[in-house]
Amino acid sequence: MNFLVIGGGGREHALCWAMAASPLCDTLYCAPGNAGIAREATCLPDLSVDNLDGIVAFSQENAIDLVVVGPEVPLCAGLVDRLEAAGIKAFGPRAAAAQIEGSKGFMKDLCAKYGVPTAKYRRFRDPVLARSYVAQQTGRVVVKADGLAAGKGVLMPETKTEAIAAIEQAMIKGAFGKAGAEIVVEEFMEGEEASFFVLVDGNIAVPFGTACDHKRVGDGDVGPNTGGMGAYSPAPKVDEAMHDRVMAEIINPVVQGMAAEGAPYKGILYAGLMLTAEGPKVIEFNCRLGDPEAQVLLPRLQSDLVPAMFAACDGVLDQFDLRWYDEAAVCVVMAANGYPGAYANGTEIKGLDNLADLVDVLPFHAGTSADGERILAQGGRVLGITGLGDTIKDATARAYEAVDRIDWPDGFCRRDIAARES
Ligand code: AMP
Ligand code: GLY
Repeated sequence: MNFLVIGGGGREHALCWAMAASPLCDTLYCAPGNAGIAREATCLPDLSVDNLDGIVAFSQENAIDLVVVGPEVPLCAGLVDRLEAAGIKAFGPRAAAAQIEGSKGFMKDLCAKYGVPTAKYRRFRDPVLARSYVAQQTGRVVVKADGLAAGKGVLMPETKTEAIAAIEQAMIKGAFGKAGAEIVVEEFMEGEEASFFVLVDGNIAVPFGTACDHKRVGDGDVGPNTGGMGAYSPAPKVDEAMHDRVMAEIINPVVQGMAAEGAPYKGILYAGLMLTAEGPKVIEFNCRLGDPEAQVLLPRLQSDLVPAMFAACDGVLDQFDLRWYDEAAVCVVMAANGYPGAYANGTEIKGLDNLADLVDVLPFHAGTSADGERILAQGGRVLGITGLGDTIKDATARAYEAVDRIDWPDGFCRRDIAARES
């Protein structure tokens, strides 16, 4: 079969790595891909993720049997709808279902309607009303842009004055562009965070692993938020009892609610959870795998990913059983100096060959290009080095052993990924 993966980050490298290992895979393409993905797939550097016409045309011309969409932007823009209309099978939610990530207001209303626990909230299109609502609140609030903002649309003011400023930033100064024309103001939740993934076929959700990520740029969780500086799986806080609770109180009602709304959800659903004193509550939903969460989930998947994706597309997950390795996985992200602010592209990364003899290490590329034999950084997050081990501690040691063999003076990583679990 012929497959096409959309995206060019570490998540898509992990997807390509898993799909290339399937006996069902004859030809694998990735648009646009990167220098690491090029080892698993034929990269299409000129086909960008927002070129929906180009992706549909390529899929038709190359008899693609399944398109797997990595990032949220093309999902929310309706890439799956477009592919299906052209008779091409695609893995991921249609635009109407991708709204679960594309509009925080949609997500909150869905939770409210179907009794799914989440922070108390109000939606606003008028900054005057938002301000007076904030003035009435007794506790801390969180201000969120309604639309997609590349993970930056959440403001966490500590005081009322800061909360008013946050509303101004989003709604008047346009800090998040159109995404901030509408906002959600919600209650601040205390607790531990965990990410919970399920594979969904429109009606049925099958667990797809748990993970924790590290969003802040600096050791000890300081500095600005990033796309994610590292992750580990499984999330130890999600024990069996918590797992059952999340499925019963959050995942199943949302999947059934989406179907009832006429927007059945298909693909990977990623729930960002706060484990509060009152139980698990939804922080957000994402309509895709996480990055770098994919780099710790997929290496733990023992089953073939490809038939699982087909079963989700075809609505037959009731006949499906996914198997997982017991091992833990830890991914350490290496980013270009300066990230998440300004950084240089084109610096050379040496020493990747030194990893060849390490067992249980997977060096995923997130933003690289090749210049002959040389590997160059091409983006903020550049590599995601995954280690596997019997415990999170072992997996962490493996990942850092590999990181330490990489010679890239122009990059950095956090030294405390998964340290909270050791
Ligand atoms: P989001 O993009 O919605 O996942 O938010 C980014 C981060 O902001 C989350 O991972 C949390 O750390 C934090 N956050 C968002 N909403 C809340 C909330 N209501 N209470 C506490 N922290 C939150
Ligand atoms: N690492 C967070 C995300 O992919 O949304």
